[in-house]
Amino acid sequence: MRNRIEVLRRYIEDILFSSTEDMRLRYFFVNHMVCVSQFCALIALRRGEDVELATMAGLLHDIYTLTYLDSTKHAKNGAIMAREILDGLDMTTPEETDKICSAIHNHSKKGSTFSSFDEVLIDADVLEHSLSNATLPLIEKDRERYEKLIVEFELGI
Ligand SMILES: [Fe+2]
Repeated sequence: MRNRIEVLRRYIEDILFSSTEDMRLRYFFVNHMVCVSQFCALIALRRGEDVELATMAGLLHDIYTLTYLDSTKHAKNGAIMAREILDGLDMTTPEETDKICSAIHNHSKKGSTFSSFDEVLIDADVLEHSLSNATLPLIEKDRERYEKLIVEFELGI
């Protein structure tokens, strides 16, 4: 059986290397998606969620933005794209696809609360935004979630 995480990592790398145009920007998004996928694994481990599916959701969550370099309705459009990709790759059950796509669909609504699995991706996205350059001020819409994550992971001084 194929390693599903490696398949998706390769999938987004192929988008990065598909052209030299806008490569720096596409690299930024691939890097972000890989980092978010690793935070997804960490958070899923802590909360007893499915680590593999959470990692896969992280790897695909900004697929629309990466592909079109456009973040308009990227969560909704990304969920549609992720479903097409997962259906095409034929390596997830319908339930797994639904779970991943639900998380992607909801991931930009930082002020709301969703299923415990959806929450993993939202929080992983917040962690990446907040820690990719920890010398910069927090993004205001991420602050509340970030402060809760600091407590959950006992990272406070
Ligand atoms: Fe993101």
